[in-house]
Amino acid sequence: MRLLKIAIYTFVLAVTSQLLCAQIKILYGPYLQNVKDTEATIVWESDKPSVGWVELAPNDGSHFYSEERAKVFDTTNGVKNTSLLHAVKVKNLAPGTAYRYRIYSQEVLSHEGISVIYGKVAASDVYNKKPLVFTTCDPNKNETSFLMVNDIHGRENVITKLLNAANYKDKDLILFNGDMVSVFKDRETIFDGFMKESIDLFAAEKPMYYARGNHETRGEFATSFQNYFSPKEPFLYYIFRQGPVCFILLDTGEDKPDSDIEYSNITDYDGYRTDQVEWMKELHKNEDFKQAKFRVVIAHMPPLNSPGIWHGQKEVLNKFVPILNEIGVDLMLCGHLHRNVYEESSSKIQFPVLVNSNNSVVSVKAEGDKMNLEVIDLDGKVIIKKSYSTK
Ligand SMILES: [Fe+2]
Repeated sequence: MRLLKIAIYTFVLAVTSQLLCAQIKILYGPYLQNVKDTEATIVWESDKPSVGWVELAPNDGSHFYSEERAKVFDTTNGVKNTSLLHAVKVKNLAPGTAYRYRIYSQEVLSHEGISVIYGKVAASDVYNKKPLVFTTCDPNKNETSFLMVNDIHGRENVITKLLNAANYKDKDLILFNGDMVSVFKDRETIFDGFMKESIDLFAAEKPMYYARGNHETRGEFATSFQNYFSPKEPFLYYIFRQGPVCFILLDTGEDKPDSDIEYSNITDYDGYRTDQVEWMKELHKNEDFKQAKFRVVIAHMPPLNSPGIWHGQKEVLNKFVPILNEIGVDLMLCGHLHRNVYEESSSKIQFPVLVNSNNSVVSVKAEGDKMNLEVIDLDGKVIIKKSYSTK
């Protein structure tokens, strides 16, 4: 009996000391968000509460260890955040320029009064692997190419198949247009549902921009969406510019009326969509918007009219379309319907609308005054092909 007690005690001690000494790990990421011409946000999650920072180095051929690199910390109002999730915005970058980066998390073991005890550090590898690299956007670039996928609903390997079918490695950026998972339950849903696959494939080095779908608004983790995507931006709707294209990302909200029992009285998407109309009224003053050769709207729910149209899509039709007609856009890319639809511009909707299915990828290349679009299915077959010229 005594021997058994000693054995149990030794085992518990060993497990406890193992747990206490366990090395902090980067669990997910890093991945890029909101890459613009002079700034970018880098996001990652570690397995223990920690402070986080990014080291940034020029892509000049020097070894990452050749000198002390500039550090940018994850902070709020000047105080370093102790958190599992880290987001760092790096600023004052040069347009169209490649930067190397390294992420760090240092465990915070305790914080009592003015005493903080730090633990071990985890970082991305710059010795056995090439340091991670990203390139800032460049409004003066003559051409750009990009891909868009949507309505993945957590299905494994679909993003990889679609992006490979469209040669994602040659493209400047990737757009996610909503419903990447069905319910936003927890962080595992995000990473197991689509982000781990995306990070493994491209998202640490190639910019990804995300327009929220209606399914990302559901679930107990839905209010955490912006902690992970566009975490340093004021809103989930925004514009950015790459080469000849100005991208306008909108958030079309939910599909049913706000009063529907499914939303348990927690939403006001009608008001939120009106806020976006007010924001769009100011876009004509924005230089990136004004000077772009092509203006492309990314919005999950399409404004297409049909006898069975639901409230959310009606709002997109009745609120978003008039202001988009007024400010002038060249193309609207949507999802939501799980089928491919292409509608030419009409007197009511004065720009073409493409709805991409859940099993195809939109591939667009804009160069000078021309923009070419292809919709490619899982087998690599081109199922829609369109061309646009500047007006
Ligand atoms: Fe949807």
